[in-house]
Amino acid sequence: MQRVFSGIQPSGIPTLGNYLGAIRNWPPMIAGHECIFCVVDQHAITQPFDPRDLAAKTRDMAAALIACGVDPERCVLFVQSHVHAHTRLAWIFNCVSRIGWLNRMTQFKDKAGKDRENAGSGLYVYPNLMAADIHAYHATLVPVGDDQKQHLELANDIGQKFNHDYGADFFPTIQPMIQGVAARVMSLRDGTRKMSKSDPSDQSRINLTDDAETIALKIRRAKTDPEPLPADPSALEGRPEARNLVGILAAVTGREPADVLRDHEGQGFGTFKGVLTDALVAHLGPIQAEMQRLLADPGAVDAALRRGAERAAAIAEPIVDRAEELIGFLPRRK
Ligand code: TRP
Repeated sequence: MQRVFSGIQPSGIPTLGNYLGAIRNWPPMIAGHECIFCVVDQHAITQPFDPRDLAAKTRDMAAALIACGVDPERCVLFVQSHVHAHTRLAWIFNCVSRIGWLNRMTQFKDKAGKDRENAGSGLYVYPNLMAADIHAYHATLVPVGDDQKQHLELANDIGQKFNHDYGADFFPTIQPMIQGVAARVMSLRDGTRKMSKSDPSDQSRINLTDDAETIALKIRRAKTDPEPLPADPSALEGRPEARNLVGILAAVTGREPADVLRDHEGQGFGTFKGVLTDALVAHLGPIQAEMQRLLADPGAVDAALRRGAERAAAIAEPIVDRAEELIGFLPRRK
């Protein structure tokens, strides 16, 4: 059975975009794999953050994962900073990874922006920590979005260089499982921008805590255009809002946009929005209810995460102990 590892940033209550783009791909993997899922709070501090709400955002993300079907009894679900093996291995990887490799990372360039001199050094070595997350478990399958592909290639370069330099066939090759770009969800107010937590308008996104009434209102107010829906998805080119709503309906009903259009060809958005609202409410309703239940009992979520951390450490500690031994560190224990 292959071991799966994936991480998600503690961005608080996920949006529909986080859900369709990443989270909903996780529960189906639990049946056929040994799954390890991590809320990466140490990665979160590589960019500006508020120490007053980091813990709550970490817990909220974990609660959302559980509500979406990431069952902490059937997989290992934990918080990155609770398992020290990650940073121990990350330090080794800081020394294995090459500055030339990190300089090629497009995400660093995007995130650091113009003022690169003033970026934290953690942001620069972010991919080394990510490689450590995965290699600390000898995981071989990593579900991620397209934007993380380059980081996984780097993780493989690091694993190979470690194996080569320390004469061991120790870290396995990682296979990315790149998740569909079709599930890229855009803002309800501007179809050219990603649906995002940081958009000042709550009307631009659907949150997993939104109830049926809120979802209905947001969809009713969503930006559209005056044209009827076409028969062919290629005709949605240049109509970003229409394309987004069709994509969302396709994603929540498990169909292709072409199939959605076959049902709604020639319709205006009035009818279409009603159908979309019903589909969203049917899909998200049970998640929202479970989420409310979990958010009302933060102690239970924290307890589940602590148990998850113990199970994660039981896997990762021996692997990182062995990596330290290969490096030549004096063993900490006999
Ligand atoms: N960098 C990933 C992201 O932003 C999150 C992440 C951290 C991750 N560690 C990981 C993903 C390990 C997969 C495996 O989405």
